[in-house]
Amino acid sequence: MSRSGGVVWLKTVVLLAAAAAMLTSVSCRSTVCHLIGGKELWKPNHNYTDWSLQQTFYVGDWLHFVYNKEMFTVLEVNETSYKNCSDEGIIFNVTGGFGSDVIKLTQPKTYYFIANGDYCYNNDMKVAVNVVEIVYVYQPPMMMMMMYLLPLQVMCVLLFLTRNRQ
Ligand SMILES: *[C@@H]1O[C@H](CO)[C@@H](O)[C@H](O)[C@H]1NC(C)=O
Ligand SMILES: *[C@@H]1O[C@H](CO)[C@@H](O)[C@H](O)[C@H]1NC(C)=O
Ligand SMILES: *[C@@H]1O[C@H](CO)[C@@H](O)[C@H](O)[C@H]1NC(C)=O
Ligand SMILES: *[C@@H]1O[C@H](CO)[C@@H](O)[C@H](O)[C@H]1NC(C)=O
Repeated sequence: MSRSGGVVWLKTVVLLAAAAAMLTSVSCRSTVCHLIGGKELWKPNHNYTDWSLQQTFYVGDWLHFVYNKEMFTVLEVNETSYKNCSDEGIIFNVTGGFGSDVIKLTQPKTYYFIANGDYCYNNDMKVAVNVVEIVYVYQPPMMMMMMYLLPLQVMCVLLFLTRNRQ
């Protein structure tokens, strides 16, 4: 009875240490390049709202547009022009001429992209991307975690040994 109690304690300590190790390792995130539309790429008659909602875009990430360069373009516009499929509020012409363009997401805001007029207007070829700031949670380094856990570990071992003697 008392022996299994000690084992449970030790297991708890091991689990705590493992959890601490996991927490420290998730504190860093490398930037992601999002391929627009996934395997559907950038084309007419595809609902990019669905695609966009399934992704999380962080500041520092990239967007990659791949498309038929003979037919389509990519324009970054403001919200009004996105809704109206107009190139009046053009912020940046992403079109590079090779049918493969990347753009870095540098600000926490919603970015709006449309294809050339008719494809946007008639075929819903547009995408809105909501970019958020990465929130870093302070994680104490592993050594510090171990130092906090050490007295607990010693206590558990002692408890385990004394209980076994009884
Ligand atoms: C695209 O998907 C969104 C989210 O599911 C939906 O609200 C919208 O009506 C769809 N658009 C079209 C044109 O089907
Ligand atoms: C939207 O676009 C249409 C057609 O190009 C134009 O007539 C209309 O004035 C635009 N509306 C806005 C709010 O820009
Ligand atoms: C977008 O740009 C157009 C044309 O410059 C302007 O009339 C409109 O107010 C802008 N909309 C937003 C939301 O900034
Ligand atoms: C954007 O750039 C492409 C390639 O240079 C060009 O063909 C297209 O006309 C431009 N669109 C606008 C609205 O400036």
